[in-house]
Amino acid sequence: MTTTNKSKKDYSIYFQPPSYSDAKKRGKEDIEVHYDFNVPEDMKEIGKDKFYLIQTYGCQMNEHDTETIKGMLEQMGYRSTDDRKQADIILLNTCAVRENAEDKVFGELGHLKHLKLEKPSLILGVCGCMSQEEGVVNRIMKKHPFVDLIFGTHNIHRVPVLLKEAMFSREMVIEVWSKEGDIIENLPKKREGIKAWVNIMYGCDKFCTYCIVPYTRGKERSRRPQDVIAEVRELARQGFKEIMLLGQNVNAYGKDFEDIEYRFGDLMDDIRKIDIPRVRFTTSHPRDFDDHLIEVLAKKGNLVEHIHLPVQSGNNEILKRMSRKYTREHYLELVRKIKKAIPDVVLTSDIIVGFPGETDEQFEDTLSLVNEVGFDSAFTFIYSPREGTPAAAMPDDIPAEVKKQRLYRLNDALNAISKQRNELLKGQTLEVLVEGESKNNANVLAGRTRTNKLVHFEGPKELIGQFVQVRITETPTFYIKGDWVQEAVTQQLGS
Ligand code: SAH
Ligand code: SF4
Ligand code: F3S
Repeated sequence: MTTTNKSKKDYSIYFQPPSYSDAKKRGKEDIEVHYDFNVPEDMKEIGKDKFYLIQTYGCQMNEHDTETIKGMLEQMGYRSTDDRKQADIILLNTCAVRENAEDKVFGELGHLKHLKLEKPSLILGVCGCMSQEEGVVNRIMKKHPFVDLIFGTHNIHRVPVLLKEAMFSREMVIEVWSKEGDIIENLPKKREGIKAWVNIMYGCDKFCTYCIVPYTRGKERSRRPQDVIAEVRELARQGFKEIMLLGQNVNAYGKDFEDIEYRFGDLMDDIRKIDIPRVRFTTSHPRDFDDHLIEVLAKKGNLVEHIHLPVQSGNNEILKRMSRKYTREHYLELVRKIKKAIPDVVLTSDIIVGFPGETDEQFEDTLSLVNEVGFDSAFTFIYSPREGTPAAAMPDDIPAEVKKQRLYRLNDALNAISKQRNELLKGQTLEVLVEGESKNNANVLAGRTRTNKLVHFEGPKELIGQFVQVRITETPTFYIKGDWVQEAVTQQLGS
């Protein structure tokens, strides 16, 4: 369903809005894997002496897509710039998960209009999850007609071709595939620093009732194990210190393989044997978290003792209406098993307050679960209705002020736990991967523990990119402070 469209009038013929019922009928269409991506010959030099700037919103999946788009642009000769005035291409890689994410993008488009007027040759593009929503495409066409290019999440490999069309067309070029595409394996990626993201799967089939992601990212499809493993090996060879495996629901990895029985636990067990110091993953859905995975994670080594395990709510009725497909009891039992197998595990979460119809008592259940589990931190959100999702049609009579108060109370509870948990670290010496200078003080270095806690300490800049030992001295809420222990032998592969 490739839909390139130069005529603004006809776009709706090609563009299909997200449909809950259609998406749920997803079949077992074969997903083909392609290994033959190439920038077309006539586009290889087109970016010579030209610059691009990409602004990315949303999750790590989107950040990683940006790295892929950058990779393609650089194969076309473009170079990166932070200066909007210098840029010949500006892309907004957008997120649709909550309304405020979308508002930011529309605000930004308002500002970019002036740039476009000053420099008509500028190519202004919108991509990412918002482009997969029909309402958004309509709104851009009506209110921001100066945009040159819109493409979605399933066709980023088409960037070279689409750019060419945008350059030579006087109309807005819109190519959004309403159905997910195949897996394209050999796309170039521009990675920076010491940490690398690696997709292990795309899409999501969970259909939590509040969530837009299954529509914007399409159905679940896993990369073949050998492709993931080859990529991780190559990153190890290139000297990356940490990798983050990405999927909307990594525990569903491999469910779509018909020819092999190979799941996320198996993948982690294989990646454990690769010589890369730290391996993380996100996001885990509690429902598919199986015992084999717990067993593998307990082997530690490069598999760090941090699990991001979004719970969303602590109340069974709300969980049911969210269609999370687990209960409070199931979640707590899973936490018990994980803590038994990995006693020093750090658990973090995502939590939504003010889901339609959430009562005070139901919210209290979330607070009590948070205290019972003892999350080290959590991302907390006020529910935001997303057009086309089932929850958007549920009656929502909770006043905005009540939702805000719930968010404050939840954050207070989380901060208190976080403080307590961090205090336990005082006096301990921890392995820290040094990432750079702290934002506010160039004499202070910042790094992360295996459990992903931010640590500040004083030390020479040569330590950036290395593992060091830091003795924890102070524990303010959002980071911890310590002293570099020079004499300690740096352990690179955990315990
Ligand atoms: N795949 C991940 C989450 C992706 S979205 C998972 O299932 O854990 C990241 C987080 O955004 C979600 O965990 C949820 O807490 C939040 N979120 C998603 N849709 C939302 C909405 N409509 N309103 C508020 N928060 C939302
Ligand atoms: Fe959204 Fe649920 Fe899928 Fe996560 S698991 S992306 S919250 S539908
Ligand atoms: Fe946002 Fe899309 Fe990620 S909606 S959270 S950028 S998958």
